[in-house]
Amino acid sequence: MTAVLDQILSAERRKAYGAALDLLATKLAEDEHMIGLGFPYVTAPDGSWRTMPASRSAGYTGGAWSHGNWFCGFWVGLHLAAYLWTLNERHLAWAKERMLLVAPRADDPNTHDIGFIFWGSAIPLFHVTGDPRYAGMALRAADRLRARLITTRGGAYISSWGPLSDQRGRRSSAIDTMANLPLLYWAADRADDGSFRLAGEAHAKMTRAAFVRADFSTYHAVEYDLATGARARGFTFQGAFDESCWPRGQAWAIYGFAATARATGKPEHLELAERLADYYLARLNDGLVPYWDFDDPAIPDAPRDSSASAIAAAALLDIGAQHPDAGTAGRRAEQACSLLDALCRDYLAHEPGHRGLLKCGCYSKSHGEGVASAVLFGDFYFVEALMKLLLPGRFQPPACRSDEQPAREAL
Ligand code: GLY
Repeated sequence: MTAVLDQILSAERRKAYGAALDLLATKLAEDEHMIGLGFPYVTAPDGSWRTMPASRSAGYTGGAWSHGNWFCGFWVGLHLAAYLWTLNERHLAWAKERMLLVAPRADDPNTHDIGFIFWGSAIPLFHVTGDPRYAGMALRAADRLRARLITTRGGAYISSWGPLSDQRGRRSSAIDTMANLPLLYWAADRADDGSFRLAGEAHAKMTRAAFVRADFSTYHAVEYDLATGARARGFTFQGAFDESCWPRGQAWAIYGFAATARATGKPEHLELAERLADYYLARLNDGLVPYWDFDDPAIPDAPRDSSASAIAAAALLDIGAQHPDAGTAGRRAEQACSLLDALCRDYLAHEPGHRGLLKCGCYSKSHGEGVASAVLFGDFYFVEALMKLLLPGRFQPPACRSDEQPAREAL
């Protein structure tokens, strides 16, 4: 991959990507003086951050589901990226302070989102500092995520939403869960416990069977028959309609199958990640940032979702980094850079009043939340992709593979 990066990372690209990271560091430092105890998640129409305490868990209020705070870990991760890029120790101190507020979520039994929370925080903190306390937090979260595995006759899947005592959540799973699997793959290697990897791969296999349509688009969510594991219905929570393709979900799927390929070494997962990516790229008709839903009938009068583009870029880099064919590896990395180029050129929030890094994210159009906003997860995956390019290996461990583990010392 290093040779590939040397080829595709022109001086112009390095400058643009570095400028985006400079902007990140400046904004984070300003924000820390404004946000208090809360964690930013989306920007309001006036450009200011809306914040939420890290402790707010997910759950149902009556029939309404709320994701709660699944963003808080990303704030820690963004500080770490800013620290690695600028070497300003203040960002490291902020990351550690904020981590203390995030850490109790490691025991949260209500949501798959602990994968997002700890992949974005404790794992990079451990990677950067080597402090085993952060590895311990991430392992606790991985235990919780593994415990969400629901076993049926047809296979096992991770339930996404709600406590497992609630049948609504127990029966269903969301495509977003694919992007939580890296926590399990990391834990498998850290704890030398292959059951984490088995759990992640089992979920990926069920997702392939139940979520991926014949044209390689994906459902946002699936309700399973609890006995057989057959799909009872495909539906959406944040997309336009049940049979539409929600670009962010598609990007989560590419990301998760690329991670599963790395963790298992099995080519079928990499092939699927590529087919999902081809579908995503083919539907970017008039620009490199998709509308919030590929199938919204209101297009072109519809908002876009820059976060989908950021996630897809990070995932394409993961595909490129492991692809056995050098030509394909280079092509996938180039596709990722094209997406990042467009984000840097047209979507960076240079205006001081507009907080966040990327404009035009879309948290949930269906719920009227965070539309035409910066969204913290978009900023995180954008920065993750930039770090993979500019400081490879420094920010996060690669999604691990058992045969890449250091050899054990001879007994
Ligand atoms: N819950 C993940 C998402 O909104 O994409």
